[in-house]
Amino acid sequence: MTTAPTDLSPLAVTQLIETLAHFSGPGPGVTRLVYDEAWCGAQLWLATQARARGLVDTRDSAGNLYLHDPRRPPGPIFLSGSHLDTVREGGALDGAYGALAGMLLAAALRGATPVPVVGLVTCEEEGSRFPSAFLGARAITGRVAPGESESLRDETGASWREALMAAAALGCAAPGGVEKGATAPQPVIGFLELHIEQGPVLESEGLELGIVERIAGFRRARIRLHGEARHAGTTPMRMRRDALAAAAEIALAVERIAREHGEPSVATVGAMHATPGLYNVVAGSCEMRLDLRHVRADALGRLAYAIEATAREIALRRNVTFAWDLVSRQEPIAMDAGFVETAVALATAQGVKHRAMASGAGHDAMIFAAAGVPSLMLFVPSQGGISHHPDELTAPKQLAAGIEFARTLLPALTERVAGRRA
Ligand code: GLV
Ligand code: MN
Ligand code: MN
Repeated sequence: MTTAPTDLSPLAVTQLIETLAHFSGPGPGVTRLVYDEAWCGAQLWLATQARARGLVDTRDSAGNLYLHDPRRPPGPIFLSGSHLDTVREGGALDGAYGALAGMLLAAALRGATPVPVVGLVTCEEEGSRFPSAFLGARAITGRVAPGESESLRDETGASWREALMAAAALGCAAPGGVEKGATAPQPVIGFLELHIEQGPVLESEGLELGIVERIAGFRRARIRLHGEARHAGTTPMRMRRDALAAAAEIALAVERIAREHGEPSVATVGAMHATPGLYNVVAGSCEMRLDLRHVRADALGRLAYAIEATAREIALRRNVTFAWDLVSRQEPIAMDAGFVETAVALATAQGVKHRAMASGAGHDAMIFAAAGVPSLMLFVPSQGGISHHPDELTAPKQLAAGIEFARTLLPALTERVAGRRA
């Protein structure tokens, strides 16, 4: 087994990222939906890379992958990683960077920290295949609802349980299912996630590193509108119950309300699907997908209330029936204050150009933090602030610098959690 020092150079990191990006479904950019062939291929490949660096790979029954030192002592572990699933036609870095970093850090820090660092790859962080996010992290932290593995279904009607059985057959999940959650190999007492920023702040301020203090919460809702499908040529305008026109008015109201609530409120209608979807028929039904976010729970609640009330009003005025299904929600959460302080002090001491910042995007770190696991995220700059898009890009030097910073930070973070337990 190879035990050569782990190469964390810009060239090595970029080559690994590029290879990982080849595991993708068809279409532009990278598409890896959890448990599909591309996702399992990427997960199995990362495990072979870990083995080549002297680590062993194990999986839990949700399909989370752990990359660890075969000689680690029993007792608690500190996880570092991210996800390999992507949005459809996403980029090569969202999730993949942190997953790769976790593997490299676990290899580079073998035996060097008071609490062992274990690489982690989670599953379905994005909610791209199933209409719910963070499945892997929720399974590890005991947040799977009773019956959820059966009720959660993808667009083909396959349940989470069935998808997991297929993944287990491919070797990228342990058998057993997630009805009782999933079990990490040893108790988890800390979590570090590296990620691209996915926004423009670091680049525009000429900084190398973001230290995340807080992660925005979100609500995702499906709105269903029903009017009447009627002949487009013969139905006078005054007699229509047009579900698509109601959806369009709601979409504009969503944008206006988010602007009125001020930054950092954001609200997005990401999709509208009208039926029957023809030229010559007034749309009888329309389904909308809505995503709302804010870093403060009270402000998020006010935003959601204002949007739902206005959308209802519009539907009522247009004589269209209205249903609001909350499909996923997560409250805003703070990262561990001690971890933030340690990271800021280290970045200052090393002369790394950094800032503390909030994350507008959701991350697995929210789930660990909500479960009481001290957690931290580090961001590297995103060129043009682009993410969830094939053009996602970060300079190789910045990708490597983020991992190098984490390599020097993890001994201090593990020390902190070891000290808290003593
Ligand atoms: C995850 O990428 C999110 O949508 O925030
Ligand atoms: Mn994402
Ligand atoms: Mn991500």
